[in-house]
Amino acid sequence: MKYISFIIVLLFFNSCKPKADYNAKGLVEQISTQLKYSPVLKDDFKITNRNVFPRTLDSIGALHLVSKKDWTSGFYPGVLWYTYSLTEDPYWKTEAIKFTNLLESEKNNASNHDIGFKMMPSFGLAYKYTDNDAYKRVLIESAQTLITRFDETVGCIRSWDHHKDKWEFPVIIDNLMNLELLYWAWKETGDPVYYNIATTHAKTTMKNHFRSDYSTYHVVNYDTITGVARSKETHQGYADNSCWARGEAWALYGYTMAYRESNESEFLKQAEHVADYIINVATLPEDYVPTWDFMLSDKVNEPKDASAAAVMASAFYELSTFTDNSKNKESYLKVANGIMASLSTKKYFNAPGTDKGFLLSHSTGSKPWKSEIDVPLIYADYYYLEALSRKLNIQTQTN
Ligand code: GLY
Repeated sequence: MKYISFIIVLLFFNSCKPKADYNAKGLVEQISTQLKYSPVLKDDFKITNRNVFPRTLDSIGALHLVSKKDWTSGFYPGVLWYTYSLTEDPYWKTEAIKFTNLLESEKNNASNHDIGFKMMPSFGLAYKYTDNDAYKRVLIESAQTLITRFDETVGCIRSWDHHKDKWEFPVIIDNLMNLELLYWAWKETGDPVYYNIATTHAKTTMKNHFRSDYSTYHVVNYDTITGVARSKETHQGYADNSCWARGEAWALYGYTMAYRESNESEFLKQAEHVADYIINVATLPEDYVPTWDFMLSDKVNEPKDASAAAVMASAFYELSTFTDNSKNKESYLKVANGIMASLSTKKYFNAPGTDKGFLLSHSTGSKPWKSEIDVPLIYADYYYLEALSRKLNIQTQTN
């Protein structure tokens, strides 16, 4: 009897453990079924309203829609584009075009660095999947807008204009993600100005945003007269000296992407160092989904951040295709598969018809600001779909 109880307990714990891999192809139908529950895809939804882009759910579970000005506005069109690419169903293309076009005027919005976050998942994927030159023109104008925020002395693109009393020239680690728009514009136009600004920003960030163990500071505030980093702080992390999980995920993704675009070997090395920090120094929990900051002492009760996990999964898949070291490759694929296996279980993947069509739960926007804690977030869904596409591409290439 004792022996049988032991086997039952063992079987139970094994079923709680994330699987090493998951059925990527089988997920596609589940994804499109769930996305169709979004109220913004219903016939009676007013697309002419100011706020039309799903961002999250509020504290009573109502859909929180944002305007095109919000930093997350490009992710919903991006979700639609990836779903189109995964399903090849023209329904998703029609919806993707509709939501992408609503963002066009953001190409001239120079009020912060977020233009890359908005335009690459929307117009970037629109151009990739349609080859329509109208999308290309919007992207080039967007890149022209972004470089107006570059400061030669600092060697970075300014992230924010708010908190002027506190920061003279704030640059956040997230800003690396916007460089993809500049590298894209360099390749399309041949104008080296985009390459030079993107590469200078990435190199300055390498110098000032990292500690010796390759954990990251969230915000670096620069002096525009001397170009010196005056302070290193946090805004969304636990403490100035901690490591905000999504910030580290942006760093992993940012240097992997910068290497893909520029072929600069120091960016590949940087991405590998960040990967090493995540896997071997910070370490991930058994389900591979981190809490919102890597340096919290309570890793059991603090909220998770599935969005950080999704960004990391996408980046680890790509990094696994670049690294020369076979042990690293194996470990990047193991973590990416582990994250995706967990995010695809019912703990994280929403049951059909729930959560207003969002795919994933358990993300955290900003714990210190008591905002968006343990909720669905549209960018978690976006990077989850991107990771899935990357996984399927890797599978196709190795079969
Ligand atoms: N870029 C803003 C964030 O990651 O919350």
